[in-house]
Amino acid sequence: MIKLGVNIDHVATLRQARYRQDLTGPNVEPDVLAAAAAAIAGGADSITIHPRADGRHIQQEDARALRAAIAVPLNLEMGATAAMESLALEISPAFACIVPELREEVTTEGGLDVIGGGEPLSAMVTRLQDAGILVSLFIDPDPESVAAAIATGAAMVELHTGAFANAIGSARQQERDRLAAAASQAHSGGLQVNAGHGIQLANLPELAAVPHLAELNIGHSIVSRALFIGLEAAVREMRQQIDACFSEK
Ligand code: PXP
Repeated sequence: MIKLGVNIDHVATLRQARYRQDLTGPNVEPDVLAAAAAAIAGGADSITIHPRADGRHIQQEDARALRAAIAVPLNLEMGATAAMESLALEISPAFACIVPELREEVTTEGGLDVIGGGEPLSAMVTRLQDAGILVSLFIDPDPESVAAAIATGAAMVELHTGAFANAIGSARQQERDRLAAAASQAHSGGLQVNAGHGIQLANLPELAAVPHLAELNIGHSIVSRALFIGLEAAVREMRQQIDACFSEK
């Protein structure tokens, strides 16, 4: 069964909007640990967070607290920096997904520039995996990026679904075909294939035509829906849609 990773960054976005000056006060809300618990109750297989260098939402302290509190795997999205590597090695999440944070690390469409990352990126993948953390690279669905990702020795790729989600009409089908080709290439290269960014209830039926997907990471749409039906129900709804769409393949 395809797995669902729930990204709870935007729960912290809301908290930071009011309480960024003092996260220890008695009034601070919403609680990201409670959000993780609700997501897990709704069927999340893992919890995804991205402590960014600019600290705009999830904080490093949240990452430590979540690692200690949750029983499902923690997926730490991280820029390829020494500071984030040392956080990963300290808290030892099950998965680390290396994502671009600086403009020069970004490819045309927004995935990690794996080719430009070169030897330093491969060395970081090796250090993290030697420490028992499975590494994923968040890449655009193009053949060069997939080949470069395979060459790093990373266990997984996460295909960037943003261009697919934003495309309209026949462009949507072209983007889906690019995802399918990239997924097949990565799978043949021995990598686990995940996908994320911009996935919603409405685009899952089309995404389900992409082969080999093992895990989807979804944040914005679930947290948006949670405003109206609650987080646990929003995760459960997404889980049911994934199951319905992917079982029909
Ligand atoms: N996967 C990765 C690597 C991400 O950086 C993000 C957040 O942009 C997501 C998945 C979740 O994307 P969304 O919030 O659009 O569902």
